[in-house]
Amino acid sequence: MDKLLIFGGRPLKGTVIISGAKNAALPIMAATLLSSGIHHLKRVPRLRDVLTMAELLKRMGANVQIENNKCIIDTTKITHFEASYDLVKTMRASILVLGPLVARFGKAKVSLPGGCAIGARPVNLHIVGLEKMGAKIVLQEGYIIAKANQLKGTKIYFDIPTVTGTENIMMAAVLAKGTTIIENAAKEPEVVDLANYLISMGAKIKGVGTSIIEIEGVSELNPPIFHEIIPDRIEAGTFMAIAAASGGDILIKGCRTENLDAVILKMKDAGVIFKETKEGLRVIGPKRPNSVDIKTMPYPGFPTDMQAQFMAMMSVANGTSVIKETIFENRFMHVAELRRMGADISVEGNTATVRGVKHLKGAPVMATDLRASASLVIAGLIAEGKTIIDRIYHLDRGYEELDKKLISLGAKIERLKK
Ligand code: EPU
Repeated sequence: MDKLLIFGGRPLKGTVIISGAKNAALPIMAATLLSSGIHHLKRVPRLRDVLTMAELLKRMGANVQIENNKCIIDTTKITHFEASYDLVKTMRASILVLGPLVARFGKAKVSLPGGCAIGARPVNLHIVGLEKMGAKIVLQEGYIIAKANQLKGTKIYFDIPTVTGTENIMMAAVLAKGTTIIENAAKEPEVVDLANYLISMGAKIKGVGTSIIEIEGVSELNPPIFHEIIPDRIEAGTFMAIAAASGGDILIKGCRTENLDAVILKMKDAGVIFKETKEGLRVIGPKRPNSVDIKTMPYPGFPTDMQAQFMAMMSVANGTSVIKETIFENRFMHVAELRRMGADISVEGNTATVRGVKHLKGAPVMATDLRASASLVIAGLIAEGKTIIDRIYHLDRGYEELDKKLISLGAKIERLKK
């Protein structure tokens, strides 16, 4: 397993270009199952999760080619309707093939994702939603087995605005008979990007980006000429946190600032300066950030996917900050590792109290999940001395060439291959 060796303590300066959003690319790749033909996707990030989704589609009979950041998916010959445990256990987002398979082929066998490092993460809302649309679903030997002759439009209310749940039901509904209304739908920009892809295939969707989405089923969809995946707001936010925590000056190119309002406003409270320029967004970190409280919320609230990175930044802030995680029940795995680097953090229930220290100190640490790994990278970049991060395969799942991008900003980083 590769490790990352970081010699910290230098402000990061320069320009970084944001890659395509992982959490938009994955549902859009799954959505290609909804219509027979050749799909051209651009700005697809080269990530392990993207390769896993490609493998999943290939095993179903699709032809998938990825070159640079272009992905061509031919879905003319789909002959298998299964997502097996060996792939689903490495990527929970595999569940996204469930809706498209049932909608277009009337059957699917998808392994139930287990729990994961950040929480139990059930998929009950996906299942109940499909059942409401007329699918017959049984759980057998760890698999969701779904069948439906023709899904029917209906009204679905989500107890929680689940992101992939909204995406799965939206993908199922585009080929259902009649109108489906999703209430308390997720409003994340990635849901909007998926909807735009579906609309460009001929789907009829209204209200996307709001909490009520209305989908009128159509009998057939056709691949659009091409689609460009939106930039990754979490990658952009991560670089903002890097500039902020290291007292750096980073020009972030290609991000959509309107999707990052909550993060930018909280960073401004921490003393970070943002300058919109012709080339992109310039982010200038203060000498030492002010402490700021955050509470994670569904979009447009502060994203849970930025909580760990913000905590790394707060670990060296001037003062105490209170960080509340309301989306996942176990998303503080980075705390113990940050403490090993000298951070003063205590956790009670879903609340972490971070008492800022002047300096972190390099240490060997272990990455536990994707965003926790990003927070350890930030901590390593600002710490005095040497940090070795083990299990960085988590980072490769979600950040395109992070080490190369950091090196171009002046970081002293080495990937230790095993
Ligand atoms: N939930 C249920 N039942 C369900 C579905 C969700 O109880 O059927 C709960 C979850 O356990 C969680 C909450 O609802 O407590 C929200 O989960 P959600 O379903 O919205 O999360 P997700 O769709 O599994 C996506 C992203 C995550 C991101 C979350 C929240 C993708 C592929 N994944 O997950 O991204 O943290 O939304 O914004 O879009 C990451 O990129 O590192 C990552 C984990």
